[in-house]
Amino acid sequence: MPSDTVIAGLDIGTSRVCAVIGEFDDSGELVITGVGTSPSSGLRKGIVVNIESTLKSIISAIEDAEFMSRQKVSAVFTAISGAHIEGTNSRGVVAVTGREKEITREDIGRVIEAARALAIPMDRAIIHVIPQEFIVDGQRGIRDPLGMIGVRLEAEIHLITGSLTSAQNLAKCVNRAGLKVADIVLGSLAAAKAVLSKEEKELGSLLIDMGGGTTDILVYMDGAPYYTSVMPVGGDQVTGDISIMLKTPMDSAEKIKREAGCCHPAFVEEGQEIIIPRLGGRPPLALARKDLCAIIQPRVAEIFTMVRGRIESKGYAGKLSGGVVLTGGGALLPGIVEMAEEMFGVAARIGIPARPGGLTPEFQSPDYAAAVGLVMFGAEYLRPEGQEAVGLEKPPAGGILPSLRRWLRNFFE
Ligand SMILES: Nc1ncnc2c1ncn2[C@@H]1O[C@H](COP(=O)(O)OP(=O)(O)OP(=O)(O)O)[C@@H](O)[C@H]1O
Ligand SMILES: [Mg+2]
Repeated sequence: MPSDTVIAGLDIGTSRVCAVIGEFDDSGELVITGVGTSPSSGLRKGIVVNIESTLKSIISAIEDAEFMSRQKVSAVFTAISGAHIEGTNSRGVVAVTGREKEITREDIGRVIEAARALAIPMDRAIIHVIPQEFIVDGQRGIRDPLGMIGVRLEAEIHLITGSLTSAQNLAKCVNRAGLKVADIVLGSLAAAKAVLSKEEKELGSLLIDMGGGTTDILVYMDGAPYYTSVMPVGGDQVTGDISIMLKTPMDSAEKIKREAGCCHPAFVEEGQEIIIPRLGGRPPLALARKDLCAIIQPRVAEIFTMVRGRIESKGYAGKLSGGVVLTGGGALLPGIVEMAEEMFGVAARIGIPARPGGLTPEFQSPDYAAAVGLVMFGAEYLRPEGQEAVGLEKPPAGGILPSLRRWLRNFFE
């Protein structure tokens, strides 16, 4: 396989760095050929705070993925997250200029430019400009107006912005690890690409990516994102509660959570017990599993209540016929689907990135969603000339513009 078709996704998370390598096979299908992960300690709540330790995690994850795929990576698609991320909806209007009143690429470019021309503070950068729909002479719901006849062209877009310095530090880590940035993509948007079906995006669905330090939410409607938010809470809070309540160190609390944790009483059988190692030479403690569940459940409920609050305040609560899809390591907690269904009043499921093929099933886990989605993003832009990439979406009319480039040119390939 020629090496110019190697696409790498790098999800630098608060708990771990996750690298995924994808390649096109001879039939043009994207296959995952390498994965690697490494624990991460240089981030707080999704934001890089220590470049040295983050770059070590990056190198280790990339090396593992390279070893598995037997390919060398030079540039990566990287995910960005953190509470600095904001999404807004905006609209632009232009007059169609051509003599025949036929809408051209330039008209589409101009109308998107008009929609994104909001006042953005100096310390913020546009991460994505995503067209939701076009309106031609009042006719709504147009996905691609190219070639249509009209006088007045309007575009509605979802604009995602973030802190410029956070993006710069992220890019700096990648560069220091010896890699170029191919592009920076919002983590939840990457996860959505890997796990949401076309129907879910059309019907209206809520993606919740619960990681260690952040919970990222994204609402899709009519095929496009309408609401984006990142909350600085996640699985680490759950682990912290276990550590405090059971007087056990964080690493053993984490182990207990992963091995025996759950957040819905229906998942606990009567009489199940777990043994808790404790601090300061104190003897281990036997604990009923239902009591562990009683520690975890309120914190997860609190996080979901925050999510629901945001969704309700923006008016999207009644528009989620496609349901809730859960990704990130937090989605591995037994009972979380049932809890989400109870709290959001719609169907919920775990989002597993199963679409690209691959030799190892390792990446088919909700905590790989963002990294696999990054590869899928890359595949849409880097597929070999003239080759139809099987099963990949076409970018929307006007494209999802790689906007960070203009701010971070030095870091990019
Ligand atoms: N089997 C499991 N059961 C319960 N929780 C789990 C399990 N595996 C991982 N987690 C939790 O998932 C979280 C890590 O998820 P993930 O790897 O998606 O985070 P991250 O992407 O590094 O962080 P973030 O996105 O917040 O920056 C941790 O809180 C961890 O405890
Ligand atoms: Mg994450």
